[in-house]
Amino acid sequence: MINSWAIGRDKDSWEDAESFKPSRFLKEGVPDFKGSNFEFIPFGSGRRSCPGMQLGLYSLELAVGHLLHCFTWELPDGMKPSELDMNDVFGLTAPRASRLIAVPSKRVLTLVARASYAAAARDTTSTLPPQLHYWNSVLPGTSMPKALSELVQPDSVEPPKNFVGYNQHGVEDRTLSVYTQDDDTHLKDPTQRIFFLEMEIKPGTTMKYSLGRNIAGETFLPRKTAESIPFSSAKLPEILNKFSMKPGSVEAAVIQETIQDCESEVLRGEDRYCATSLESMVDFAMSKLGRNVRAISTEVEKGATLQNYTVKPGVKNVNEGGNFVLCHKLTYAYAVFFCHTFGQTRAYAVPLQGADGTTANAVAICHLDTSAWNPQNHPLQEVKVKPGTVPVCHYLPQGHIAWVPN
Ligand code: HEM
Repeated sequence: MINSWAIGRDKDSWEDAESFKPSRFLKEGVPDFKGSNFEFIPFGSGRRSCPGMQLGLYSLELAVGHLLHCFTWELPDGMKPSELDMNDVFGLTAPRASRLIAVPSKRVLTLVARASYAAAARDTTSTLPPQLHYWNSVLPGTSMPKALSELVQPDSVEPPKNFVGYNQHGVEDRTLSVYTQDDDTHLKDPTQRIFFLEMEIKPGTTMKYSLGRNIAGETFLPRKTAESIPFSSAKLPEILNKFSMKPGSVEAAVIQETIQDCESEVLRGEDRYCATSLESMVDFAMSKLGRNVRAISTEVEKGATLQNYTVKPGVKNVNEGGNFVLCHKLTYAYAVFFCHTFGQTRAYAVPLQGADGTTANAVAICHLDTSAWNPQNHPLQEVKVKPGTVPVCHYLPQGHIAWVPN
C-alpha cells in the first residue's frame, strides 16, 4: 500500500510542505493530480488508478461550490483559522483528530432580499414584497438595516410547512440580562468586555468585544398572513397543527416558550409588544416615537470575531430625547420580534475598527438609570460602579433593531 499522505508532505518534493497553499498549483510545471507525477497522487497512478476521477472532480466542485455560494462560513466563537487543531489520527484515510466545526449563515437569500430592495428603490411600479411596499410608503427615504432586509423574501407569503429553526439563539445575547434581571453572564475570556461606561465611547478607546454572530433565521411573513395565524398559548394546539409539529417535540417546546415570553409579565416602566410582522413592528415603533422614525442596528463588514475594536471618530448620539424602542428577534416558525421601550437610555452610533481591519457600525445603548440593578450581577460588577451612579452601556449584538426618532 502506498502512503500518499507522506508523499504529499515530502519536504524534498514540496516547498513549505506542511502549509495549505492552493496557489502553489498555479505555477508553471508543477505536478498535476492525474497520476503521472508521483509527488502528488490523490487518485492513485497507473492501471489501477481511480476510474471515478472525473466524476469525483465534478461532484466535489459542485458540492463545495454550492456550500460557498449559499452560505457564509465562520469558525465558532471567533476562532481564527490559525487556531485550528490540525492533528490527525492513524487510519486508512488519516482523519482529523478533532472534528471541524464550521458555522454557516444564509447568504443567497440575503442577496435576493437586498437586490429586490435596491430594485424597489429604483422602480416603484414593480411588484414588491408587501413588507417593502409598506416600508417605502410609511418610511420613505430611510434605509432598512441589513438585520431586517435579510428577513424579507419576495416569496415568503406562505407560512413555512416545517420548522427546523430550534436553538437559533445564536446571537450572543448576554446583554439581555440587563432587561431580564437574570445573571447568566459567563465569559470564557476574562479580557472580553460586554459592559462599559459612557465615557469610554470616544475615539481611540479599544476594547475586546464580540459583536455577535449574524443569524438570519426565519423570515417575515406578510402582515396579512401573520395575522391570520393565532399567536397565543390558548391556541397552541392550532398553531402546532398549522406548522405540522408534534406536541411534545423540541420544535413545539420552542414555539410554546416564545409565545410565553411574549405573554410574560411586563416589567416596571416597560412598554412592550411582540411584532409578528415587519409592518406591525414599524407601527409599534411609530406609535411610541412618532411617524418620523428610523431603524438602526449593529452592522459588521464581515464576520464578527472576538477581537479588539477601536472607536473611530464620528460617534453620534442618535436619540437626543432619550426615547427609543428596542426589538429582539425571537426563535419562532417565522420572524417575530420582541419590542419594548423602557427606562431612560441614550443610544449612540459608533464607528469601530477591528484589529484585523474589519469595520463595523455599532449601536451602543447606555442605561441612564441603574438604580434598580443588582450590584452583585455581572453588568455592574464588570464596570465596577454602584447602582444608580453613572450610565452603563453595551453594544447591541447584530440582528437586533433599535428604533430612534429621525
Ligand atoms: C475526489 C474523489 C475521489 C478520490 C480522491 C479517489 C481516489 C482514489 C484512489 C487513491 C484510488 C486507488 C488508486 C490506486 O490504487 O492507485 C481509487 C480507486 C478507485 N476509485 Fe476513486 N476516488 C474518488 C472518487 C471516485 C468515484 C466518484 C468513483 C466511482 C464513481 C471512484 C471509484 C473508484 C474505483 C472503482 C477504484 C478502484 C480501481 C481499481 O482498483 O481498479 N472513485 N480512488
